[in-house]
Amino acid sequence: MNVATSIPEYRLLRAELPGLVGFVPTMGYLHEGHLSLVREARARSTSVVASIFVNPSQFAPSEDLAAYPRDLDRDFAFLEAEDVDLVFAPTAEEMYPETFDTWVEVNDLTKHLEGAARPTHFRGVTTVVAKLFNIVQPQIAVFGQKDAQQALVIRRLIVDLGFDVDLVIAPTVREPDGLAMSSRNTYLSQEERTAATALYQSLQQVEDLYSAGERKAANLRRAMVEILEAEASLQPEYISLADIETLEELEAIDQKALVSLAARLGRTRLIDNVVLPPGESLI
Ligand code: PAJ
Repeated sequence: MNVATSIPEYRLLRAELPGLVGFVPTMGYLHEGHLSLVREARARSTSVVASIFVNPSQFAPSEDLAAYPRDLDRDFAFLEAEDVDLVFAPTAEEMYPETFDTWVEVNDLTKHLEGAARPTHFRGVTTVVAKLFNIVQPQIAVFGQKDAQQALVIRRLIVDLGFDVDLVIAPTVREPDGLAMSSRNTYLSQEERTAATALYQSLQQVEDLYSAGERKAANLRRAMVEILEAEASLQPEYISLADIETLEELEAIDQKALVSLAARLGRTRLIDNVVLPPGESLI
């Protein structure tokens, strides 16, 4: 496995990669969720590239950029074990030199959910992903359903800017008790970790009620609130039942929907989602 830390170094190594290149962008501190994307890329392409870059521009000043967990050596060992061919792990200066002044924005889709809660977040994501696509030159890119809105925004970016990249969305990998794996789970105290299981429990409750015939968003939302409110250390930030294409809130779930939520546990902010009808794919 080769590691490139600069763009010119990457380009030299990229030129040696045979066949279709599958790409998994990450911010590192890898877990099984990330590695499932790497396996998906491995299964679909000849060569696999992963990037590790904690992208400053997608963190607001009040957010956890400095505290975001980092362990490059551990990440490299995981990627090597997954037979990754090339890792792009640039410095912040390499990606954002002092003169940097170009931004890529997706508009309507980013006004909802995560974009409403974190107004500058997606501009950072779409800018860095566009730059990574240009540098990495993949034919396939794998993203996780865990960040469902991000996946939808990246689909818009690819279509609107004509990137020649096939987007693959991989399912959310969960801990045995259902908590979606996240690098941010490492922030949780033991008590918060226990309370955090309520996120997925509330989503499963929605799936069950939907399967039993409930279609009213208000009733489904109430069922989620009840489960979340039972955990004193958990503060829901939003609960959404939205059209899967536009992310506009729905009153009745009579089309494919994204059920998603964000919640705070102490200083940690977690997100999770499911698609309705249960078992349908996001994209
Ligand atoms: P990061 O949070 O490191 O996630 C990298 C990829 O892993 C994303 O596509 C995310 O959806 C996926 N992922 C995270 N947890 C997962 C889980 N439990 N199961 C399946 N997939 C999971 O998302 C980012 O980084 C950044 O925004 C990035 C796209 C790299 C741009 O900076």
